[in-house]
Amino acid sequence: MAKIPDGKNTSGRGQRDLKVKVKSARGRKLSSTRWLQRQLNDPYVKRARAEGYRGRAAYKILELDDKYRFLVPGARIVDLGAAPGGWCQVAVKRSNVLGERSGKAVGTILGIDLQEMEPIAGCELHQIDFMEDDADLRVKELLGGKADVVMSDMAASSSGHKQTDHNRIMALCEAAAYFAFDVLEEGGTFVAKTLAGGAEGDLQKLLKQRFTKVANYKPPASRADSSEKFVVATGFRGEV
Ligand SMILES: C[S@@+](CC[C@H](N)C(=O)[O-])C[C@H]1O[C@@H](n2cnc3c(N)ncnc32)[C@H](O)[C@@H]1O
Repeated sequence: MAKIPDGKNTSGRGQRDLKVKVKSARGRKLSSTRWLQRQLNDPYVKRARAEGYRGRAAYKILELDDKYRFLVPGARIVDLGAAPGGWCQVAVKRSNVLGERSGKAVGTILGIDLQEMEPIAGCELHQIDFMEDDADLRVKELLGGKADVVMSDMAASSSGHKQTDHNRIMALCEAAAYFAFDVLEEGGTFVAKTLAGGAEGDLQKLLKQRFTKVANYKPPASRADSSEKFVVATGFRGEV
């Protein structure tokens, strides 16, 4: 089984700064060469490989949790858009899902994604399209009770059209938010990836009605050239 990372150091220091230059090859598009070069030179990609995470996205949730502290031992967590599993790997450690920290409460994780996922010890993983009719009911059934954290890193694959991508991701966010309203325990936390664009204000307004605090944060692991950021809503007010 893959090494389970320790989920502690999120600073990104200590990487050797040797830039890899990728030669363009026949048959490879310029955009692919650029992507490859960026991957090979990305310190978070290197760290993920060295520390056993399934992807660089793991550092986004580590940094979000370092700031807002919602992945506490014993937390019941729903991870929407969980594949390939970096966020789950972090949550397993931080919420003591495997009971490795004796004397601390043991958490649970339910992860869902459009794509099939390799198993992760301690996580219940299901292949579900969250935008399908009744998907929320299915997930609620699988959860079988309340959650302390609903986190969504869901993103549709890029269409290349900024406004379309924005609308798609905001639709996923909104669906995740309504799901969170149904399943969160009072005091619970909702975290979701958003993209800058017109519909963010509506989501903020909606969340402010149901949570005591709503913040936006772009963790250092989120690429500077990406318009993604994360909304973190804490202190769910419960039934209205
Ligand atoms: C950026 S990736 C998530 C990375 C993940 N947080 C990690 O750490 O490995 C976004 C994921 O959202 C999933 N996704 C997009 N639309 C979805 C939908 N309608 N239902 C479920 N998952 C969805 C994609 O399949 C993709 O795996």
